[in-house]
Amino acid sequence: MNTLDDFLKGHPSAADLKAVIAAVASACVGISRVVSAGAIAGNLGSAGQMNVQAEEQKQLDVITNDMLSDSLRKCPPVAGFASEELDTIEATGRQGGFLVTFDPLDGSSNIDVNVSVGTIFSVLPAPPDKLLEERDFLLPGRRQVAAGYAIYGPQTMLVLTLMDGVHGFTLSASGEWLLTHERVSIPKDTKEFAINMSNQRHWAEPIRTYVDGCLAGKTGERGKDFNMRWVASMVADVHRIMMRGGVFMYPWDKREPDRPGKLRLMYEGNPMALLIEQAGGEAINGREDILDVQPSALHERVAVVLGSANEVKLVRNLSSV
Ligand code: AHG
Ligand code: MN
Ligand code: MN
Ligand code: MN
Repeated sequence: MNTLDDFLKGHPSAADLKAVIAAVASACVGISRVVSAGAIAGNLGSAGQMNVQAEEQKQLDVITNDMLSDSLRKCPPVAGFASEELDTIEATGRQGGFLVTFDPLDGSSNIDVNVSVGTIFSVLPAPPDKLLEERDFLLPGRRQVAAGYAIYGPQTMLVLTLMDGVHGFTLSASGEWLLTHERVSIPKDTKEFAINMSNQRHWAEPIRTYVDGCLAGKTGERGKDFNMRWVASMVADVHRIMMRGGVFMYPWDKREPDRPGKLRLMYEGNPMALLIEQAGGEAINGREDILDVQPSALHERVAVVLGSANEVKLVRNLSSV
């Protein structure tokens, strides 16, 4: 089996970009170890403070954020980075190269109950010859040059795209990433959907109509029975869709009408949308491709509907009537 190093050596991308991927991948090996140590390392539970998203931080949100930040600071082609857990950007002082945005620990509400969590990252071009500012990060997802996630589950995997499809690597016992899933492809049709049903009463009409159609089953208009899954770790829900299809939704809802959705565009929406499109699926905020959304703030939220192409098309059509 090819290792990630072999894969990167043979890949036509620029050496600088490959160095960024290697830096993220190596941080994820370390993160996998601290996550799996759990209570032995005494790092479960709350950090006793809030992050910029007004969420209570877990100790592991802080630890994993520091681990990935350290790795990126040491990686020469990285001009700066931004994280779900940091108030603002960090510039490394270097110019040109790349910007990285990341969610160091996705699904951290699941960490204390030993359910899969992950790390999500996005790589964008850095502006040449200028001091880095927050607004330099506000590029639409189409400008990404790479994206990926690590999932810390029964197997630890790294799933990434360098704009030529999606490839999955499994972490071996000796700490090497081995290419186990070449050219991941999402089936266009599915009978599985993922949404937090407890928010049903707050949804807008198109999502209600779509989910009602799934729940109606074989005798309804859709003519098939659907199954539902909700891990509450986006990484785990998206990974399931990568492996066997499905549709994942975190839509706008009435709980916070001024917020487009719960998930963050730069750390969750864009990298996952790129991976999904690269694997043959679709990713929209309702009407528009997530990758076409022009960000106006670093921590901006976005509504997310992604996965099997034909299901996402249905939601898009419902949203535009
Ligand atoms: P994070 O742990 O990085 O803050 O992200 C949590 C997100 C995402 O992983 C998941 O899909 C969603 O929150 C779950 O939300 P609910 O608890 O509202 O179901
Ligand atoms: Mn969070
Ligand atoms: Mn997250
Ligand atoms: Mn997170």
